[in-house]
Amino acid sequence: MTHTDAGGHRPVMLDEVMQALAIQTSGCYVDGTFGGGGHTRALLAALGPQGRLLAIDKDPAAVARARAEFDADPRVTVRHGSFAQLGQFVDELGLRGQVAGVLLDLGMSSIQLDDASRGFSFMRPGPLDMRMDTSRGPTAAQWLQDASQEHIEQVLREFGEERYARRIAAAVVARRANAPITTTDDLVALVRGAVPRRDQHKHPATRTFQALRIAVNRELDDLAAGLDQALVALAPGGRLVVLSFHSLEDRPVKRFMRHHAGRLEGACERPTLRLVRVPKKAGAAELAVNPRARSAILRAAERLPEPPDA
Ligand SMILES: C[S@@+](CC[C@H](N)C(=O)[O-])C[C@H]1O[C@@H](n2cnc3c(N)ncnc32)[C@H](O)[C@@H]1O
Repeated sequence: MTHTDAGGHRPVMLDEVMQALAIQTSGCYVDGTFGGGGHTRALLAALGPQGRLLAIDKDPAAVARARAEFDADPRVTVRHGSFAQLGQFVDELGLRGQVAGVLLDLGMSSIQLDDASRGFSFMRPGPLDMRMDTSRGPTAAQWLQDASQEHIEQVLREFGEERYARRIAAAVVARRANAPITTTDDLVALVRGAVPRRDQHKHPATRTFQALRIAVNRELDDLAAGLDQALVALAPGGRLVVLSFHSLEDRPVKRFMRHHAGRLEGACERPTLRLVRVPKKAGAAELAVNPRARSAILRAAERLPEPPDA
């Protein structure tokens, strides 16, 4: 079986994710990042008629796909919003503390990356949008127009680990004084002009695009909130499974799980999670067919029961 969907996103580490979720056929699951629906589809195939699934995505286009495909399935509820609102969505369904598994497959889908009109790719000419939720918030172009030079520099440094953050931020401010930066090509040209030619082996705009995407979508704030809320949603024995794609995402996931498992100094006295051993990286067979899996890092933890006197 191949696991591509019509829009072309191949779910990453599908078998490993399913094993990490340890599916209970009558359980209630949350796919916090529906995307192209690859993981949701596999989850639904594993669930019985009593199972339930809440599918969330920030991207209205992903939500429309989810509704079109799953509206007729009585087990499925689809919500537009961030997984940072997971607690609210679960409360609306009366499922707080009863969820058997939460999956967060972070970042963007191939469907988003490949769509030039979304502005996520430095390889595709298009408007500099980069919002996952196209229904609200400033685009990357507006963000670059309004942010201070210091803030741009800080974002490039922190979210892009970009060593030429200062030069690029200065170039943005110089350029926008004359004309706004409105397209992906504008930004690529600007970064090319700001970064020394000898350092252009990797595409010079890679880090800038990553940093902007993280800032525009408040990805790390959402991640922190989503992890907290998943913990509240999970039933004892429920699994939290997270796929990250770079160290800025993986670090807080690892810290969160270790903290709640009592594995960090200053961690909570009564652990609420148990770390679950899973393959951290995709296997060779998957890497051969899905380059996106190369950077994937899988982590899982299980909700522990409340102690009797809690
Ligand atoms: C990597 S894709 C998920 C792919 C999906 N697992 C599949 O198999 O097709 C990530 C998706 O999560 C969505 N997303 C990113 N951050 C989000 C957030 N904070 N809340 C909800 N959805 C988010 C993106 O819009 C994108 O559609």
